Amino acid sequence: MTELKNDLFLRACLREDVERTPCWMMRQAGRYLPEYRATRQKAGGFLNLCRSPELCSEVAIQPIDILDADAAILFSDILVVPEAMGMDLSFGAGEGPKFSDPVRSLADVKKLPVLDDPTKELGYVMNAVSTIRHDLNGRVPLIGFTGSPWTLATYMVEGGGSKTFSKVKSMMFNEPETMHLLLEKLADSVAAYLNGQIAHGAQALQIFDTWGGILSTGTYKEFSLAYMQRIVDQLTRESEGRKVPVILYSKGGMGWLEAMADTGCDVIGLDWSIDIDEAKARIGDRVALQGNMDPTMLYANPDRIRAEVKDILARFGRGNGHVFNLGHGITPDVPKEHAIEFFKAVREESVCYHQ
Ligand code: CP3
Repeated sequence: MTELKNDLFLRACLREDVERTPCWMMRQAGRYLPEYRATRQKAGGFLNLCRSPELCSEVAIQPIDILDADAAILFSDILVVPEAMGMDLSFGAGEGPKFSDPVRSLADVKKLPVLDDPTKELGYVMNAVSTIRHDLNGRVPLIGFTGSPWTLATYMVEGGGSKTFSKVKSMMFNEPETMHLLLEKLADSVAAYLNGQIAHGAQALQIFDTWGGILSTGTYKEFSLAYMQRIVDQLTRESEGRKVPVILYSKGGMGWLEAMADTGCDVIGLDWSIDIDEAKARIGDRVALQGNMDPTMLYANPDRIRAEVKDILARFGRGNGHVFNLGHGITPDVPKEHAIEFFKAVREESVCYHQ
């Protein structure tokens, strides 16, 4: 394996010394880049793009070339897992994901298989991981990912995105055993899937719990966190002689940071609803922190973006264990130049905190 030329991200995840604060961005390979839109067009749609390892590699590496990002993230989607379990997934133009056959009953859940061999139905993702890793040629580390069982379940039960989450919450409250069986199957499938990503070259992992924050404290712990714990417990934690850091990101979950740290993850991903100095005071001696600029700040002019970057860096202050990121994914209508300026600001303004 090629030696990593830039391992700042991995070192920051493990709270080791760095010369500056590393930065990557959720959804950094995406529609705000004309280069991404051109590759998607060439692929003939988003899901086709996900199924082509060569084109996945092309779009995963675009943000490294264009932004100088300190990590690449696998190009895929969280919903390829339910699709591999046999559900019919589509992305209508500008509509978001749809499942034509949502999971609504115990019988539906019982029919779903546990995916214990990621080289079968999800073999194309494993090929994407190997191809990206090969094409990166050691420039920066590669992050693998999954959706959390709860977040995947929301799409599987609702049949797509939702504002009220009425169906998935009805199932949770009225048929908790059905919900638990679904989450168990997802957790075990996803653990095998992530271990497959590690075996094919992923050097860190992020669990996206995008919808954890719609729960109450009690239901979050029972229906989301417990299953992320079940995943973390099954993961390979070392590969190629290095620790594989695990990042847990629950959007809207800033009230539960201590419980998240208790899972044994290495990094907690913050959304922008908490000041990073407060998060650091609460748990920064136990895990590293990732975040946490409001993604809509990228609509502001470059001077305002730089001021915000400086504020977040100052709040974190000196010391190790900060991975700069947005508090959620970059949106499609952000000007590419603003994203470039954001990365430049983090690179330049963070050096003084590491001298
Ligand atoms: O660059 C990266 O971060 C890697 C790729 C990535 C995608 N999706 C590509 C994508 C990652 C990590 C995801 C995760 C994902 N997918 C999440 C969790 C993170 C989050 O944003 O909250 C969720 C909830 C999904 C499900 C999903 N995929 C939705 C709701 C949508 C439609 C909404 C939208 O933004 O259009 C997608 C589509 C999707 N996934 C796109 C990309 C680049 C846009 C598709 C396109 O090109 O038309």
